[in-house]
Amino acid sequence: MTVLEKIGSPPARLGGTALYDWDYLVQEDRAHRLIYTDPAIFEVEMTHIFGGTWTYLAHESEIPRENDFITRRMGLRPLIIVRDSEGKIRALYNRCTHRGTTLCRWDKGNSKSFQCPYHGWNFLNTGRLRGVPWPEGYAADLRDPKYNLAQVPRVESYRGFIFGTLNLDALPLTEHLGPISTVIDEWLDRNPGGKVVVCEANRFRYKGNWKLAYDNSCDGYHVAYSHRSLLETENRFAGENAKGMAYYRNSPDTQPMYMRYTGHGNHFKDKRPNLEKRPGGLWALESAHPGMEHYESEFIKRYGDRAFALLDLAGSEPVNINVFPNFSLLGNHIQVFEPVSVEETNAIWYGTMIVDDDGKLGKDAVTDINALRMRTQEGFPNFGEVDDVANFEQIQRGLMAIEDEWVYMNRGLGIPGRVKTHEDGSITAPATDEAFMREHFKEWKRLMKTRANFAIQREP
Ligand code: FES
Ligand SMILES: [Fe+2]
Repeated sequence: MTVLEKIGSPPARLGGTALYDWDYLVQEDRAHRLIYTDPAIFEVEMTHIFGGTWTYLAHESEIPRENDFITRRMGLRPLIIVRDSEGKIRALYNRCTHRGTTLCRWDKGNSKSFQCPYHGWNFLNTGRLRGVPWPEGYAADLRDPKYNLAQVPRVESYRGFIFGTLNLDALPLTEHLGPISTVIDEWLDRNPGGKVVVCEANRFRYKGNWKLAYDNSCDGYHVAYSHRSLLETENRFAGENAKGMAYYRNSPDTQPMYMRYTGHGNHFKDKRPNLEKRPGGLWALESAHPGMEHYESEFIKRYGDRAFALLDLAGSEPVNINVFPNFSLLGNHIQVFEPVSVEETNAIWYGTMIVDDDGKLGKDAVTDINALRMRTQEGFPNFGEVDDVANFEQIQRGLMAIEDEWVYMNRGLGIPGRVKTHEDGSITAPATDEAFMREHFKEWKRLMKTRANFAIQREP
């Protein structure tokens, strides 16, 4: 006998923040395909999510000196993230106030001012209009603040990570991050001086919605299947050891790891309980890759007793930390999701180096660690991320099946004792559960429903 599924009536379009029935589109156990495919919903996200909450913009080490700048985006808004002549970090709209062209076409650089390539209006890196060609042609007073560049009104850093929001009512960044900052602190504090410096990036662009990447960020369920070729390679090297991906080969829920949701859409997956607390404990878990034994023996030859503690600084931290909507720390990478359109996204993996501010490690050791760190950071983006983006593209295709409306996120839901809510409000579950996704969608829905108190700012 064939069972016909009834097709739900399409959600009503009402206009404004009540454009859709958000409670219908995102339910406890499932989400409607439209949230990944509808351009109108994407448009709402570009203000309510990328604007309504704290969005990661850049790392302070990318603009270390006065007048350094880097061009980035917040949602679709082009921005210039600049450390101005007085050292203040600003997120200027990269959009000329004359006729709207992008002002700065460089990825990064150092400049006290920006000159528009179209008609030559010139702006200071505080955003103030400095001058225009042949001003006698204007009757208007060009000192009017409306001619100064728009900027993101709230830009705050947490230990080097720069975030911005247009929402005047958003909590201060540290309060917004809340408990996830503890695990960010741990990620940083394992490095000398509690610091990293951002390097260049592996850049991916996939044909799929940005949320597909965030939905995958804490997903421990897909690993054994999606990353099978990587897992098989690592199994060959790992023997009985729980190295890299090989960790997932047996029932992942019985392994010492878990996921924790900490609020505001943020979560992390923690494989650190698997770590032996000894010098070399982290290095022992590092994914196998060609030349590894050689590096290891070189470190032992050069640094003797210190070798394993130093190797740990090159090894990948076994935790995935995700800050909604666009920021992840994985291993030693900073991953950033940049929406391009409803069905296109950039996924950028910035590598990180360590620094030795207080000279404790010595120049040779830092150079060797960072060279090896580069090798360990080549692995996952090249051999793992390709599997993930292939999935994202195939999901986007699958979701073109209009009448088959729902995607399910109910793994772990309704099994007594499996998902635990703690006193601080955080939620833990086994590593393969979709509790993280159910929770970040509550935050997504809250933001989509809320008419936020938005503003931009200009210099007076
Ligand atoms: S658009 Fe920039 S000067 Fe005309
Ligand atoms: Fe993956």
